[in-house]
Amino acid sequence: LPTPPRPKDLPKVELTENARQVLIRRYVRRGDDGKPCESVEDMFWRVAYHVARVEEQWDSDVMSRAREFYILLTSKKFFPNSPTFTGAGTPLGQLAACFVLPINDDMGRDASGIFQTLRDAALIQQTGGGNGFSFSRLRPKGSMVKSSAGQATGPVGFLRVYDHAFGEIAQGGTRRGANMAVLRVDHPDVEEFITCKTDENAITNFNISVGITDDFMRAVENDEEWELRFPDVHSPLYRQVKGTLEQLVEAGVPLVTYKKVRARDLFDKIVRQAHHNGEPGVLFLDAANRSNPVPHLYPLEATNPCGEQWLGPYENCCLGSVNLAQHFAPDGKVDWEALRQSVVTATRFLDDVVEANQYVPAVPQLKEAAHRARRIGLGIMGLADLMYHCGVRYGSPEGQEFAAQVMEFVRYHAMITSVEMAKERGPFPAIKGSIYDSENMRWSPPRPLFPYERDWGRPAVDWDWLVDQIRIHGIRNAAQTTIAPTGTIATVAGCEGYGCEPAFALAYIRHVNDNGKDLQLTYASPQFEQALIKAGIEPEKRQEIIEQVMLEGSCQRVESVPEEIKRVFVVSGDITAEEHVRMQAAMQAFVDNSLSKTINFPEGATVEDVAIAYHLAWKLGCKGITVYVTGSREKVVLETLSTA
Ligand code: CDP
Repeated sequence: LPTPPRPKDLPKVELTENARQVLIRRYVRRGDDGKPCESVEDMFWRVAYHVARVEEQWDSDVMSRAREFYILLTSKKFFPNSPTFTGAGTPLGQLAACFVLPINDDMGRDASGIFQTLRDAALIQQTGGGNGFSFSRLRPKGSMVKSSAGQATGPVGFLRVYDHAFGEIAQGGTRRGANMAVLRVDHPDVEEFITCKTDENAITNFNISVGITDDFMRAVENDEEWELRFPDVHSPLYRQVKGTLEQLVEAGVPLVTYKKVRARDLFDKIVRQAHHNGEPGVLFLDAANRSNPVPHLYPLEATNPCGEQWLGPYENCCLGSVNLAQHFAPDGKVDWEALRQSVVTATRFLDDVVEANQYVPAVPQLKEAAHRARRIGLGIMGLADLMYHCGVRYGSPEGQEFAAQVMEFVRYHAMITSVEMAKERGPFPAIKGSIYDSENMRWSPPRPLFPYERDWGRPAVDWDWLVDQIRIHGIRNAAQTTIAPTGTIATVAGCEGYGCEPAFALAYIRHVNDNGKDLQLTYASPQFEQALIKAGIEPEKRQEIIEQVMLEGSCQRVESVPEEIKRVFVVSGDITAEEHVRMQAAMQAFVDNSLSKTINFPEGATVEDVAIAYHLAWKLGCKGITVYVTGSREKVVLETLSTA
């Protein structure tokens, strides 16, 4: 697909050496000889142009839109997810990072049957897209299979089949999409599922998460019995109706109880396993469905691989992140107006991506589903950088409020832009019957978890006005906001904090393989160094401090660091698990989809500590929780080695 020459007057991009290398390795197009055939700037122009090009249909000035996008990207104020960089303007043309595919309990007849979906997933994975699946529709292991008079494999068996297939498929493109497997907490095979990754070498191509219901959490609280059940596979209706548990029950398929367990025992099993090696994660199905924008189309049953994006069958979402580290104003302030402008342009960019994306033509359901709801996922990266800049401690009550105010601002302006686009281009086609249906509007504006007490100079938002606007004009995108992990794009953007996470370390040594030689590169947070300079600390002393910080990543135990700097310059390990959860919840209140966040526990945290975090996350309205106990993975590796 031809890209017109890049206008000569457009600016160049400033990147750190590390960022430039990652970008060239991952994003730049290569010729048949495997050598790069475009410059870094050409790459940005290719993306800007091919995304803007779709605006032809609305009589926009494509070239000026392309310039606007190019400037947004090269100023590092906003990046879309990696597949947009690698796919735009290429023959593949697949631009989204996240997909969810349904798996019906069927071997061959159904278009969403087990092996059809495996094939569809393989095709998506080759484009760099990640897949999420719910295995909950599959009948329990050992239950009867009429056609073969045999016994069913069960969800975990098929999960292994998928895992094996994905492990063997040669990957085209530049990265292989990751995978997520979800199983409901009331599925008869859930116990087997919880422990299916105990062996670190098992099911390595999947993240796994248990889909938890409010009923289950209440049963845990009240110490009740919990039924593991499944629709009656012998019922004649069962062969006719396909879909989720809710959909089958609604159609009149009776449920059969396979087993009763104590809710607390099951919960304990999940928590223990997560405490041990970080998996399974937990997804709160009811919290997600309460904010499902299109409940008339489907109940939500799964997320993308990293858990931040809930999607219906065959849906995808292109994610994009505004880089808060590029929205500083002098004197420790936020440049709110620049942030507003970035959000406006970024929201347009993402809606254009829905048009520009070629999806995977061999799976026509993908394009259909994408155009029906027009989901986009705008989020942030570099939150930690902005908090350092503003002198706000990540995790503190003040930090929770700061993050909420920022996310509220982003969401508000993303939604205004989506309404603007509804005026120009029309609302998403499935709006009738959705929560944004003007005749039965069920969407109500988001509220902070706790009333705001602080002022960072943020311009006011007027949600009531926005409700009226949606009523009059509709909205272009059924979902607008998601906070992605930004694993690659935050590196390219040079952020200290990925997505909405705190920084991982203030200083560290990185090992780089330089033609077979181990090269040690040191890194120190530029903002931390600046803060030390500002505090009047002499160069020699600064060097000493940085060397000490390198040992632990944190400055908290380095005596000569001034208290005020210690207060602000926290890293992941300095923040308590409760503070992590509260940050997640504070932001979730202003994200209509979900967000990627890891709840870090210090070494020595107990199973009970993890259980408390799960309860808190559920109570505060989080849509899931992922935990990591420091050192646990290494311990697992050691155990595996010693028992091998
Ligand atoms: O920074 P980048 O755009 O490369 O991606 P990310 O924000 O770290 O991840 C966004 C989403 O892309 C994840 O939640 C996954 O759904 C998907 N992904 C994947 O499928 N495979 C990977 N190797 C990385 C990301």
